[in-house]
Amino acid sequence: MSKKIFVINGPNLNLLGEREPGIYGTLTLKEINEGLKRSFPDIEFTFFQSNHEGSLVDSIQQALQLNADGIILNAAAYTHTSIALRDAVASVKIPTIEVHLSNVYAREEFRHHSQIASVCRGVISGFGPKSYTLAVHAFLAELNG
Ligand code: DQA
Repeated sequence: MSKKIFVINGPNLNLLGEREPGIYGTLTLKEINEGLKRSFPDIEFTFFQSNHEGSLVDSIQQALQLNADGIILNAAAYTHTSIALRDAVASVKIPTIEVHLSNVYAREEFRHHSQIASVCRGVISGFGPKSYTLAVHAFLAELNG
């Protein structure tokens, strides 16, 4: 049976392509998502983006209804602030990988702490759009035992 991965993106990631391209690259979120579908045709992806914390909490809970095997979460700025997202990830008990396009540890100090990482399976940060691809590979490595 095909694996289901829910890819959730947080605030300002809808602006990828035009937002600080020196840091985040020139691909749009749509192009990143299309690239994932092309690279992993056997995986059933669901994509969601929101600028609103509560909607992101709702989407993490929705992963249960979707029967998702894994969540890839780029919570963007909420990574560093949101206890609500952390609690949502802990509540659903679906393996979640935190991803970032940029290497948050090579940036401002306020980006060095993640509220969410400790309840995630792991963190991938700094590989641009490939951070998402690497997260899928990580899931496949685990799901296929
Ligand atoms: C980000 C890093 C965050 O610190 C920042 O607030 C973002 C994007 C990344 O993908 O590199 O919006 O999550």
